[in-house]
Amino acid sequence: MALANAKQLAIKERAQRVIPGGMYGHESTGLLPENFPQFLARAKGARMWDLDGNEYIDYLCAYGPNLFGYGYEPIEEAARAQAELGDTLTAPSAAMVDLAEAFVEQVSHADWAKFCKNGTDATSMAIVTARAFKGRRKILCAEGAYHGAAHWCTPIRTGTVAEDRAHIVFFQYNDPQSLEDAFKANEGDVAGVIATPFRHEVFSDQFLPDPEYARLARRLCDEADALLIVDDVRAGFRIARDCSWEKVGVRPDLSCWGKCFANGHPISALLGSDKARDAAISTFVTGSFWFSAVPMAAGVRTLREIRDRTADRSRTAGTATWFRSPADGARDNADVPVRRGPGLPYRLRMVERMPRARRLFPSLSQSVRIGGAWRGRAKRYAERSRGRVPCGQVEP
Ligand SMILES: Cc1ncc(COP(=O)(O)O)c(C=O)c1O
Repeated sequence: MALANAKQLAIKERAQRVIPGGMYGHESTGLLPENFPQFLARAKGARMWDLDGNEYIDYLCAYGPNLFGYGYEPIEEAARAQAELGDTLTAPSAAMVDLAEAFVEQVSHADWAKFCKNGTDATSMAIVTARAFKGRRKILCAEGAYHGAAHWCTPIRTGTVAEDRAHIVFFQYNDPQSLEDAFKANEGDVAGVIATPFRHEVFSDQFLPDPEYARLARRLCDEADALLIVDDVRAGFRIARDCSWEKVGVRPDLSCWGKCFANGHPISALLGSDKARDAAISTFVTGSFWFSAVPMAAGVRTLREIRDRTADRSRTAGTATWFRSPADGARDNADVPVRRGPGLPYRLRMVERMPRARRLFPSLSQSVRIGGAWRGRAKRYAERSRGRVPCGQVEP
């Protein structure tokens, strides 16, 4: 069935004139088919609508943030109440302390929190803190891992210089020998290791690391007096109700959070243990909107939802398993060759015989490509949950 797209085409044309390339970053649909919706009009619960009124079930959750679905009322109510009082003021509000306390209570390794806007702010603040810890330079980072779009980590290097990542040392994810070699080659100058809790890069298969590898990272950091950073921006509260590596008994010194904890309101966080507190005090990091109160109030309410919905835990985990199982069937179906990863936000990777655009933007294309049982289940699930999809797989 052809979708109406007159408004979409018109606004794309306008965007081409006033926005470089018509769109930039991960939100660009430039490589997708012409009728793929670049702009959306609204969203509610698990559904969203484009400018021409076409309705979609959103498996992407805005690339992660909408843990409880769009416009989830208890969180919006908290945000509205704070907005009545004020948002970006000359000083922070009490909501900042409330949110820091809620995080410290929720995340085992955390003794303090600092807030910022995007995941990239949190990962950049983490490496600055690690370098400040012992005055060292080297940050060990898994090759190909995505930690954001700052000079030191952007995957597209145009406009950056080699010096921007002169002290970023790459090793192979989940490869103990490679990690040990990186430590040895930089002995005395390792500030920290930054690692995602599971391998979730867009252009490769996803997998959970061997717990031994996570434990080795912890041990090597301890031996070298370096800080271990877990980048939980994508996986946060989708693997555990704690820092993700808590599941394998590994507590980092720093962890980075974004996406998950304010249900779409713009805020991210760096959490740290007491060991890293002085380093965190010694650095200068800030931003005009980093102290805005509305996202913090939304964050406090979201963390409360995550903490209190105990009764939902096994149901959520069970539903997630049920929801994803047809993808295994689809994987074996020659018409739709896909692979799926272990974590969430749920992701399918389409491989072989798929046009380049679909390989480049697999998650975007999944909502228009995958049919049959899987779509049926998704639809039923969305209906069953009355339009509200708690999309994180949080284990009991
Ligand atoms: C693991 C990880 N770290 C950092 C980031 C950067 O977050 P942001 O896009 O909010 O700057 C992302 C974004 O997807 C991510 O997945």
